[in-house]
Amino acid sequence: MLFFALLLEVIWILAADGGQHWTYEGPHGQDHWPASYPECGSNAQSPIDIQTDSVTFDPELPALQPHGYDQPGTEPLDLHNNGHTVQLSLPPTLYLGGLPQKYVAAQLHLHWGEKGSPGGSEHQINSEATAAELHIVHYDSDSYDSLSEAAQRPQGLAVLGILIEKTSVPPFNVRELLPTELGQFFRYNGSLTTPPCYQSVLWTVFSQRAQISMGQLEKLQETLFSTEEPSKLLVQNYRAPQPLNQRTVFASFIQVGSLYTTGEMLSLGVGILVGCLCLLLAAYFIARKIRKKRLENRKSVVFTSARATTEA
Ligand SMILES: *[C@@H]1O[C@H](CO)[C@@H](O)[C@H](O)[C@H]1NC(C)=O
Repeated sequence: MLFFALLLEVIWILAADGGQHWTYEGPHGQDHWPASYPECGSNAQSPIDIQTDSVTFDPELPALQPHGYDQPGTEPLDLHNNGHTVQLSLPPTLYLGGLPQKYVAAQLHLHWGEKGSPGGSEHQINSEATAAELHIVHYDSDSYDSLSEAAQRPQGLAVLGILIEKTSVPPFNVRELLPTELGQFFRYNGSLTTPPCYQSVLWTVFSQRAQISMGQLEKLQETLFSTEEPSKLLVQNYRAPQPLNQRTVFASFIQVGSLYTTGEMLSLGVGILVGCLCLLLAAYFIARKIRKKRLENRKSVVFTSARATTEA
């Protein structure tokens, strides 16, 4: 993802630009959002904590096909700090296949934590948060004229959620920021994770994590300022997981033992196979040895008894 490089390499001297009056903590914090934005208190909100042993496998879920993501075009993209997050506009030449409608890209933004404290992602998998989360926001352009119109309609939006963890080694190339396994994801109906929290989002949360270097994340955490007064560092801009209520979370894949990746499963399988083979071989050699010993014993009995006869 070239955008990601842009996003992180640009010099972060971006002034916060007004915005609506809500924050993550304090008197206008997330617990108070429903008072000003009623939908934030509704029953199909995002993010959620995905418990992998409660998801429903759906073999019909096709892998996502991102189109045009490799060629972002020649137009400069708008990057700005809206006081709640840092956001990069995306051109509608980027669109997603593999969803019920064609969804075109509109923007991407990030949620992150604070230097020295754990957490930062919005979604959690088995109650585990990661350092940050990337959201790539799309809207149904066949049915609606704009992002803001689609944002108020059921399934008007499709957002990709990518959990990001910190590594001390920078990624070898930027492509590695996107999960390689686009076919393994969770899918559920949810909402915007910020006010007005419209319940219009078809969520895709990838099971695989992307990696970001410690330096890149700290740059985010140390150089952006929020809309709060007096101005504070823009940190901890993530919403807590919301109740799942009656919703079903679908998975595009079967999670075997949830602790193991495909690679680990493969090596585990090979390990078990080799182990079995060793046991079989050992059993074979022991059996052969026992048989040989018995045969020798019998021979020596025959031999001694033969000698005994001649000597007698
Ligand atoms: C989301 O809600 C719509 C409308 O109720 C339903 O048709 C669809 O199956 C739901 N999708 C998921 C992933 O739950």
